[in-house]
Amino acid sequence: MSCCGESKTKASSDAQNRISQVPNPGYVTTQPTPTPGIDLSPKPFNLATPPPAHIGPQHSGGGYFAPPPPGAQSPWNLRPASPPTHAGTPSPRPPSLINGMGSPYGSMNNSMRASMPYPTSPPPISTSPVGSYKSTPVPDDGKLSVSVDFGTTFSGVSYGSSRLAGGVIQQILSWPGSFENFRKIPTCLLYDDVGQVLAWGLEAKNATEMPDMLKCEWFKLFLEPHALRDQSAVDPRLPPLPPGKQAMDLIVDFLSCLWEYAKEQITREIGAVADLNSADVWLTVPAAWDAKGCDIMREAAIAAGMVRSAHAGDKDWRERLHIITEPEAAAVHCAHLTDLHRLRPSQNFIVCDAGGGTVDLAVYKIIGNMAHLEIAEIAARSGANCGSLFLDLRFRELVKTLLEDHPAHLDPASLANFMHSFSESDKLDYRGPVDDDAMFHFTCFNVEDPTDPSVGLIDGQLTIPGNLLRREVFDPVIEQVLEMIEEQTRKVHQRIDALLLVGGFAGSEYLKLRVEERFSSRISVIARPVDADTATLRGAARYGLARRPLVASVIAPRSYIVKVKLPAEPEDWQKRPAYIRTNDAGVHICDNRLQFLVQKGAILRRGQRLTTKFCKFSQGAHDSAFIAVMYTSDSDHLMRYTDEGETTELCKWTVDLSSLPAFQRGAAGGVGFYTEFELGLELDSAEVRGILLYDNQEWGRVTFDFLN
Ligand SMILES: Nc1ncnc2c1ncn2[C@@H]1O[C@H](COP(=O)(O)OP(=O)(O)OP(=O)(O)O)[C@@H](O)[C@H]1O
Ligand SMILES: [Mg+2]
Repeated sequence: MSCCGESKTKASSDAQNRISQVPNPGYVTTQPTPTPGIDLSPKPFNLATPPPAHIGPQHSGGGYFAPPPPGAQSPWNLRPASPPTHAGTPSPRPPSLINGMGSPYGSMNNSMRASMPYPTSPPPISTSPVGSYKSTPVPDDGKLSVSVDFGTTFSGVSYGSSRLAGGVIQQILSWPGSFENFRKIPTCLLYDDVGQVLAWGLEAKNATEMPDMLKCEWFKLFLEPHALRDQSAVDPRLPPLPPGKQAMDLIVDFLSCLWEYAKEQITREIGAVADLNSADVWLTVPAAWDAKGCDIMREAAIAAGMVRSAHAGDKDWRERLHIITEPEAAAVHCAHLTDLHRLRPSQNFIVCDAGGGTVDLAVYKIIGNMAHLEIAEIAARSGANCGSLFLDLRFRELVKTLLEDHPAHLDPASLANFMHSFSESDKLDYRGPVDDDAMFHFTCFNVEDPTDPSVGLIDGQLTIPGNLLRREVFDPVIEQVLEMIEEQTRKVHQRIDALLLVGGFAGSEYLKLRVEERFSSRISVIARPVDADTATLRGAARYGLARRPLVASVIAPRSYIVKVKLPAEPEDWQKRPAYIRTNDAGVHICDNRLQFLVQKGAILRRGQRLTTKFCKFSQGAHDSAFIAVMYTSDSDHLMRYTDEGETTELCKWTVDLSSLPAFQRGAAGGVGFYTEFELGLELDSAEVRGILLYDNQEWGRVTFDFLN
């Protein structure tokens, strides 16, 4: 422990990421090599093999879904009725929402809520595997796979190929701004006064900020779902974005610098011109991010040139960018450690990825056998902003309170100096109650007003007792982490065999101590695996190299819902008569009904497609498109009406039916016709994609327009 603001170990910035003077190749070999006996060669991924039956509720139809709760009726029990027999005179109870002027369901309103077709069959009843990388092994052609861990405080790059170093994952350790090796470098940008990037990474972090410069950090936190939707939800303690710039601009700037350097460095390290333009790129995102954050991240990565068309006709170049969640990547890293903490197939483990900005949690079951290891998520992952930087922010608040009457020490430079001492040294060495009686000293930046013993200001040093630091700085943040772990364990109605702590914050002795105190009676193994600080980065690279889905299934962390209109049922008359109106054809329609495309907690094969049937009434050939709004909900309940719980608008879903044969037939026949179709939703690790299906065939991708 350092009891002095001037670190006794002279821990420089980024201390925990520095590898002191170890030659690059030497270090890389210290990572876990492929576990003896674990065959990482591609194997057919048997989609027909379900995860073990006890990993969660299954739909009776055989899909991996939580069944609708008891009592859930329509729209579940709606069935397609016969289409109208002649155009323009729809049957009194048509099978679909009719979209268009003069339609029996009311006037045309292309704002999705009003014009969303209603489903003609229970959701989601049919599932089909996606014939993509996610569900089938890809032949190993020695293609390069690069993973990027864009962290709130530190970022890193790994890469590998079956043709490189015997398939062992390599990590970039040499970075601009230092001759030492670093596993990760600060996620930091330095801008000039016209918004040009002056430096990034170590150089930006270590630069002395001049009046016409702006140092930017922690901007990843602006993509957290609440912050994305509501500016006022952004933690006011975070540094503001530079004027005129959005979080996305900073991410693009940082990723551009990181990627340009990574390309040069990888080329240098492998001693040949690496075909980085056709490499698979794996990018990690926090567990709590929703599809909108992922979409911004994807756009940012593309804008930064991380994937690009490699040759003429390379239409699928965007697909080379894979986005996975951080705990998932970390779990893959843990699951492939040599002794796996003595975990065996069918046992469960929690991964707690405690980083700089977020703490992310997920629970996995080990499935398959040791020679063909896979893991399956068994509870909805979670994450929150309670990473290590919140210790720094609390420390700053404490200093401000202590020195309230000494403004000479509260100017930005002074506060930054106190924070620097704390976060680069004292925080890293802090051990908890054993330090309660120790005094932590922080040298003041300004020399004036050096003494006031009543607040611990003595000879130009601020002295803070350990127990005060514990109470005001560490305990509130660590308690939040413990509560998150507690909540995650509550979600799993099975024994948890191990709790694996990864991420930089997992290096905290005090965090580990508190986790052990709270959970060791319930969880027999609590451990920090090898390379815990770069578990996410290495896991993502391993995922890329394996070229098969190492995570067999995931749990939908939230529900995906569309708003629909449905013929009124007795339950609607009873519960929401105000939502019922009579349309032009005399049919009673209930507005504000919700159609769940995916329910929170559903067990999904990665990339699995969930389909729901709909149909639409069109006035004529011109009336082929509609827009729906997709909502998400964190509620565990299946809601029938829009007012039953909180839903968040996620994206507009534009669907054009004009290419469907049924639509074309209908359009040729005159005015007023129905088109039946299916909408499919593919949920990958954290991303969502929409597909238009007709006759069980994919008919086109649907564009999501994420809402602000
Ligand atoms: N011993 C320690 N005690 C407390 N915090 C620590 C310790 N060692 C490292 N940290 C903190 O861990 C953070 C870095 O961890 P990591 O690289 O996992 O985060 P990140 O990837 O930048 O953040 P995130 O994953 O939340 O986006 C830094 O805030 C660093 O100060
Ligand atoms: Mg991280």
